[in-house]
Parts: sequence; structure tokens; C-alpha cells
Amino acid sequence: MIILGIETSCDETAIAVLQIKSKKNPRFRILSNVIASQAKLHATYGGVFPSLAKREHEKNLPIVLTKALKEAKTNLKDIHGIAVTQGPGLDPCLWAGLNFAKELAEKARLPLIPVDHMEGHLLVGVFFSQKAWGLKNVLPALALLVSGGHTQLVLMKGIWRYKVLGETRDDAAGECFDKTARVLGLPYPGGPAIAAAAAQIRNPKSLPHRQAGEIRNKFKIKLPRPMMHTKDYDFSFSGLKTAVLYDFQSRTARVQKSKEYIRTMAKEIQQAIIDVLAAKTLRAAREYRPKSVIIGGGVAANDELRTQLRTKIRELRLGVQFLAGPKELCTDNGLMPAVAGFFKLSEKKQGAALNRIGAQPNLRLE
Ligand code: KG4
Ligand code: ZN
Repeated sequence: MIILGIETSCDETAIAVLQIKSKKNPRFRILSNVIASQAKLHATYGGVFPSLAKREHEKNLPIVLTKALKEAKTNLKDIHGIAVTQGPGLDPCLWAGLNFAKELAEKARLPLIPVDHMEGHLLVGVFFSQKAWGLKNVLPALALLVSGGHTQLVLMKGIWRYKVLGETRDDAAGECFDKTARVLGLPYPGGPAIAAAAAQIRNPKSLPHRQAGEIRNKFKIKLPRPMMHTKDYDFSFSGLKTAVLYDFQSRTARVQKSKEYIRTMAKEIQQAIIDVLAAKTLRAAREYRPKSVIIGGGVAANDELRTQLRTKIRELRLGVQFLAGPKELCTDNGLMPAVAGFFKLSEKKQGAALNRIGAQPNLRLE
């Protein structure tokens, strides 16, 4: 079976062609995965500008489709279904993808399969991580889904059997990276920019003792870890953004612009976010005893988060395996709807008339 996946929920216009072998124990082969990123365009605004993003999606979609089919050495005649992200996401952007997909489905007489963006992030973690585990070795799974719009801890007992254990009450983790990067004058998207700045900091361990202490203490930055010890699985990141802003505003113009301050702050921001995400994930792992912990979503591309979470899960000694898709598949892509769409199509879960399928900006996994 071959599925075409279309993703336009935010600022990536993405189309992938995915081949699936064996319905019972599916194995996936990526035939193509084309992404046209609008990040540079939105960088001027420091975030995604929805009406501009919609226009760009409409312009990019036919080009990306041609490229995706060409790279996959296939054409619409070989495709069995068109999966498209229905939500959650930005309403105008979702409609751009949906309208394009509907037209294509009608023209090629193919089933249209509307899917959930967050389910796509989760399933990419399950099926494209380092080892092909197979569902029975992975489930039940605990998933930490962290993107620009969402931060959720989800218990997965099967395909479509999801329970959201907790989620952010205000900003998402990715949004916190993006907003604090903006305070520091770093480019959009903020996550990779903060990670890169943090990685440039001189490792105190490599310096003579006295000098290391000086660097650590120089700016005396200590950010809060909001809700880290609350007994639920919810998150809150807006206080972190405010704390960064206050610290920044308290500095002289010279310090604000100094690389050393920006790097030190970037490292502390990244660590504060990781500490909170890891604490809640570990607590949920202890309580629910899953077979695996999966991370997905754009923030799951963060090297430090991956390394620290992997180590902490190993230290739990609960026999839990840690799964993370390749970094380039953590951020938005067309494979996400394609994988989710495959399961819906093979279970014949699609079937709504085209004119009844619409965008659902607040769609919830569950
Ligand atoms: O899943 P995604 O591509 O789009 C949404 O569904 O929102 O996630 C985008 C988010 C952005 O906030 C971006 O700053 C963040 O993921 N991100 C990262 C990294 N790469 C992307 N955050 C931290 N470290 C990264 N390496
Ligand atoms: Zn996403």
C-alpha cells in the first residue's frame, strides 16, 4: 500500500510518499519526504504569521507534490489514499492543505483520510525510531509530545487508544523556546537557536577550577522550574518566559549583547525546560510502568533533551525502553499524516463525504 501524506498545519509545506508492507505487522519505507520550510519568511515577524503562511502553502503545495512524486518515482495512479492533517494547527493553514488534498482526491478518485497532527508526531516516534520494535513490544507507551503548539504527556495503549495524562496550561515548550529566543535577540525558530547558543558555552569542567566558578557565578542566572513538583502531569511555561525577560531587562546594554550572557542564559533556559519535562515524564513512567517512553514533536529534536531523558530513564531501572525518531523527522513532515492515515485507511475508519471534512484547529488526541 502507498499513502500520500500532506501536512500544512503550521509553517512547513510538507508532502511524503510512504510505502507500507504487511498490514498486520507494518513495515514502512519512505519513498519521498519533501518539505518547503517558511521559517526564514516568518523570522522577520519572530513567529508564524497565519495569513502569510496560508498563501505560501497554496503557492508551495503543487511544487512540493510534483517533487514528492518524482522523488518517489511514482504517480497518483499508484497511490491508495491521501492523508491530510485536519488539526490541531492554524485554521487558515489547515484549510490550505485540506482544500488541496480534497481537490486531488476528487481528481484521482482516491480516499481522503483526515488525521490528527499530534498522532502523527507520536506514530513517527513509534515506527521511525532507531530500532523497528513492532507495536507489541512498545505498548503500553508513554509519549511526551512537545511542539510549538503543544506539550502533552500521553498514555498509548493501542492505535487510537490514547489518554492525555496532562498538558500545558499556557505556553507550549517549543513556544517557550521561541519566545525566550526572541527576548535574547536570537532568530526564529528559537529552539534550534537556543540549543546552538547553549552548546557554545565553555564547559566549566574543561577549565581550571577558579575560572569555571567565575563563569558559573558571573551572571547568577537561576530560572524557575514551573510546576515541576506538582502532583499532576500538567505543565506551565509562561512564567519561565517572564523570568527570562525580567533578567534580561535587569542587565546593562553591554551585558545584554554579550555572547557569554546569551549563551549562559540559553543554556539555563534549555535546562529549565528539560528539568520540568523530564521530572514529569519520569514520574508518569514510575506510576504507569509503560514498556516504552516515546518523545515526539519539534522539541524532541533537541539533543540535550534526548540525551538527558534517555539517561534518566535508564537510571530508573524499570526496563523501560526509550524511543525517539530521527531528529529530522521530529519537526513537521508529511510522513506524520501518512503513517496515521495508513492505520485509518486499513481499518476503514475514513469514509466521510469530502464536503463534510473540515479543519479542526483544536482537535484533541483521545
Ligand atoms: O512540531 P513542530 O515542527 O511544529 C509544531 O507542531 O509546532 O515544532 C516546532 C517547535 C518550535 O517551537 C521550535 O522552536 C522547536 O519545535 N524546535 C526545537 C528544536 N528544533 C525545533 N526546540 C528545541 N531544540 C531543537 N533542536
Ligand atoms: Zn508539529
